[in-house]
Amino acid sequence: SIDVSDLLVDTGYTVYDTGYKNSASCCSTITYLDGDRGILRYRGYNIEDLASRCLFIEVAYLLLHNKLPNRVELENFRTMLEEHALIHEDMVHFLDKFPPHASPMSILSVMVNSLHNFYPEMSADPLENIDLTASRLISKIRTIAAFSYKKSIGQPLVYPRNDLSYCGNFLNMMFDTPVRPYIVLPEIVAALNKLLILHADHEQNCSTSAVRLVGSSGGNLYSSISAGINALWGPLHGGANEAVIHMLEAIHKDNNNYKKYIAKAKDRRDPFRLSGFGHRVYRTFDPRGTIIKDACDGILTILNFEDPLMDIARNLEEIVLNDPYFVSRNLYPNIDFYSGIIYRALGIPTNMFTVMFALGRLPGWIAQWKEMREDPETKIYRPRQIYIGSPAREFVPLGQRT
Ligand code: ACO
Repeated sequence: SIDVSDLLVDTGYTVYDTGYKNSASCCSTITYLDGDRGILRYRGYNIEDLASRCLFIEVAYLLLHNKLPNRVELENFRTMLEEHALIHEDMVHFLDKFPPHASPMSILSVMVNSLHNFYPEMSADPLENIDLTASRLISKIRTIAAFSYKKSIGQPLVYPRNDLSYCGNFLNMMFDTPVRPYIVLPEIVAALNKLLILHADHEQNCSTSAVRLVGSSGGNLYSSISAGINALWGPLHGGANEAVIHMLEAIHKDNNNYKKYIAKAKDRRDPFRLSGFGHRVYRTFDPRGTIIKDACDGILTILNFEDPLMDIARNLEEIVLNDPYFVSRNLYPNIDFYSGIIYRALGIPTNMFTVMFALGRLPGWIAQWKEMREDPETKIYRPRQIYIGSPAREFVPLGQRT
């Protein structure tokens, strides 16, 4: 074990580190990430093992409790999730007031924030109720997400069913209709389960830092998670999965004119970037991207789903991996590059992709929030700045200003 105080040197001046590229904001026991070697572990377990051998709810338990659940613990956790699957009917009325075609991400962040009003146990001692609140959040976010989709397409809501698994229940709420019952296929459940596990945590990324930042001021868990959802929404972070599909569709419409998009991405005057490539920490393949690519091939074959975007994605990847611009900058496909193609095969609409990411990331956000609040070393997040504005100026009264 490392005594962190040995690593800290009081230099007496402010370090300018834009984007916090070189700053560690906390010590954590949750996720290990080696960006040079492409290694990712949750609580010490390799992502490859967890993604191929676990249920998403086992991984959620692992992140929250620092141990894989035994059978009894898993059953108890499952029961907790079942008990909290419904949302208060007043929240349903509240959902109903969003305009048609409201963004599911915006609905998600607002509804999660409002959970504090409907389930306020947190207020006395947030850590005392953390297991209950965590279960509520993990279960209800799935219901809110599915309801937000039904709302966006104007279909009646489908309520949760406790005879289904975590992922099966979500899919049923999304796709069951009074006129066409949804058949929950095990292959689709397995693919979704894998995707959620791959998204479950990723140390101090932008959204997790937002969760910790809000929590560091004493903000409650619901509002901290809502902040995380909003941070995730941006196209440089979780919103990239949606942006990838729009980019691949644009290339498709442009008669597969890869050259044009590659040239735009390289042009420093053009803000366009190849969505789904590059990562702040990985300097090699994102291990989650590798697992997703394999899963993608598998699910497309099983479902016999022909997607022209898959060929475009493969070709684009091939071109990028052989282009000196991208090679010299260590730009490899990240998790978002292939995840959208799987979501399409599962029938998930594009505007729900980032919501799916949030569903997966939620246990990690909660575990990070909990770790921060339990750590006696935690201080309010409050970076400094380098002031580059005007020097002191004489005040000019309104009537004398030019
Ligand atoms: N396309 C083209 N050029 C890129 C890309 C890209 N996708 N990503 C980085 N670069 C270039 C930059 O222009 C920069 O070039 P320069 O050195 O000539 O100035 C260099 O690579 C380094 O890029 P930075 O922006 O400094 O890297 P940073 O670590 O700040 O950004 C990020 C990482 C945001 C992920 C970036 O790679 C990007 O915008 N990727 C596309 C969006 C995306 O896929 N986001 C999802 C990330 S995974 C996730 O959040 C779950």
